[in-house]
Amino acid sequence: MTEKQKTVQQVKKEKRDREVEPAPSGMSRRSFLTFLGAGSAALAAGSAGVLPKSAEAQQFSAGASTPFRDDAAGAVKLFFNPIERTDADELVLAEGFRYDIVRRWGEPVTSDGGEFGFNCDYTAYFPIDALGGGRNSQDGLLFVSHEYVDSKWVSGFDDSDEDARRTPEQIAAEKAAVGGTVMRVICNSQGVWEFVEDEDYNRRIDATTPMDLTGAAAGSEAAQGATEVIGTLANCSGGVTPWNTVLSCEENFQGYYGEATDDEDISEDDELQNDADWAGDDAQPPEHYGWVVEVDPFDKGSKPRKHTWLGRVRHENVAIRISGSGRVVAYTGHDEPDQCIYKFISSGTYIPGDRRANMDLLTDGMLYVADFSEGRWVAMDYENNPIFRDNGFSDQAEVLVRTPEAAALEDPETEAPIGTPMDRCEDIEVHPDDGTVYCALTNNSNHGNFYGQILRMYEAGGDAEATEFTFEVFAAGGPNTGFASPDNLAFDRRNHLWVVTDISSSSLNDGIYSSFKNNGIFVMPSVNDYERGEIYQFGSGPVECETTGPAFTPDGRTLFLAVQHPGEESESVENPTSTWPHDGDGVPKPSVVAITGFA
Ligand code: FEO
Ligand code: CA
Ligand code: CA
Repeated sequence: MTEKQKTVQQVKKEKRDREVEPAPSGMSRRSFLTFLGAGSAALAAGSAGVLPKSAEAQQFSAGASTPFRDDAAGAVKLFFNPIERTDADELVLAEGFRYDIVRRWGEPVTSDGGEFGFNCDYTAYFPIDALGGGRNSQDGLLFVSHEYVDSKWVSGFDDSDEDARRTPEQIAAEKAAVGGTVMRVICNSQGVWEFVEDEDYNRRIDATTPMDLTGAAAGSEAAQGATEVIGTLANCSGGVTPWNTVLSCEENFQGYYGEATDDEDISEDDELQNDADWAGDDAQPPEHYGWVVEVDPFDKGSKPRKHTWLGRVRHENVAIRISGSGRVVAYTGHDEPDQCIYKFISSGTYIPGDRRANMDLLTDGMLYVADFSEGRWVAMDYENNPIFRDNGFSDQAEVLVRTPEAAALEDPETEAPIGTPMDRCEDIEVHPDDGTVYCALTNNSNHGNFYGQILRMYEAGGDAEATEFTFEVFAAGGPNTGFASPDNLAFDRRNHLWVVTDISSSSLNDGIYSSFKNNGIFVMPSVNDYERGEIYQFGSGPVECETTGPAFTPDGRTLFLAVQHPGEESESVENPTSTWPHDGDGVPKPSVVAITGFA
């Protein structure tokens, strides 16, 4: 069975199985309590190729880079005391910080029955006054994505029976639990963040919501002629645009309606469709999923759009930078072993203040794939690169719909794929000051990379539109660095890099992953001020969860975070392995929290 034929549950299970047998424990640990300022050599290396802050970076940056607190002796202390690694069934935070649950799976979001979906992942906070340039950090809209469902909780379907098929009612329940939530949130007078009933904004987008396709693949034969598609699913991480919309990324879409476009043998085999989770009379074409979806959280009536120029892959997230010429550059990674990193460059230019015009910037441009062997971005341009026509692609639309196969084509000169296979790129984030591009490569057991690393890319001349780049491994996971399987990334207002980890649930606290304990929340001090590669643990998630989607308010005083799949290894609803958030019924519930306590 190929990756394309697997259901969501099967993909998750295989990922676990690939991970390795136990190794001896008892490895030494470093002290994480204090650290010294970096030597100048490390500083110089960490800052190589750095250019002045771009206009767009200033918009996204909440303030000047500020070092951690200094004491008189020159030692530098963190703004928190790092926690000990733990396997507790709790969201453990550094002393002085606390969390409040904003919304749990199943709680109401809209007055017409819309509920907060399952497995919340990405979060994005929009100040309620953002469209007027405001930075309100106590009142805003929170977008939350819902990546996938655990059937036994959401629909009651038993996915351990290979021959069982979901009923239409079970499929409907699962369709309603994915997608995204837009909800008003307010920090009350006691400093507690609360969900707010607000019919002007609160909205659920799910696998039944109509949305449009834009770009070269819209209406194409490769997209089955569609200009409108039904719903979004597999919504993993995402990104925020400078014009205050959210980009939600469809990642492991292949499990719902299958995948039929990237293998001729499979496309002729309708067994694939029958094995998909949502096979049935209203099954949708697979080509309608695997896109980046743009949602306007400020316009409840607006129709989401899937932008085909950003390619069709298992998108983790999107990170946006405005280039020196004003074009939008959108970086995105394909989270699958031996798949690629891409960037899109818009045709049009960003016009500050003209939201209506900016709304169309992602509808036209060009997609590039990263060739790390040559340090270049290769345009996936059907008209100007014969490689696609020579290999049977019929038009630009097909290159976009079948992006992974197009990126895997062999360059006749280098005899290597035009896009370099990578170690499962999860989040990409652009440094707010210098524009360097950070990529979390979570792991790839195909190549013995079990702990993952964070890559830092330097565009030539610091230009986001550059066709050449250099790169380095910025931080490597492992027992000594203290983290493994980096997933989502975020920069805070002081440009400290926040990293959350996603060691597979079945590997946690076992074998070579024993020392890490539960998945955690980590901070790497601002790399241009201090030693690069140092990392300190700020928090730890409940049993078998991953913490996802870290997002700060503009004032930096609140960190929103999703707790996804607590108790994921539970074999039945009667015997959950986690009962977080411990609210009385013994049911583990994916939830979004607000973390406060930042000075
Ligand atoms: Fe949905 Fe790549 O994590
Ligand atoms: Ca992720
Ligand atoms: Ca992940």
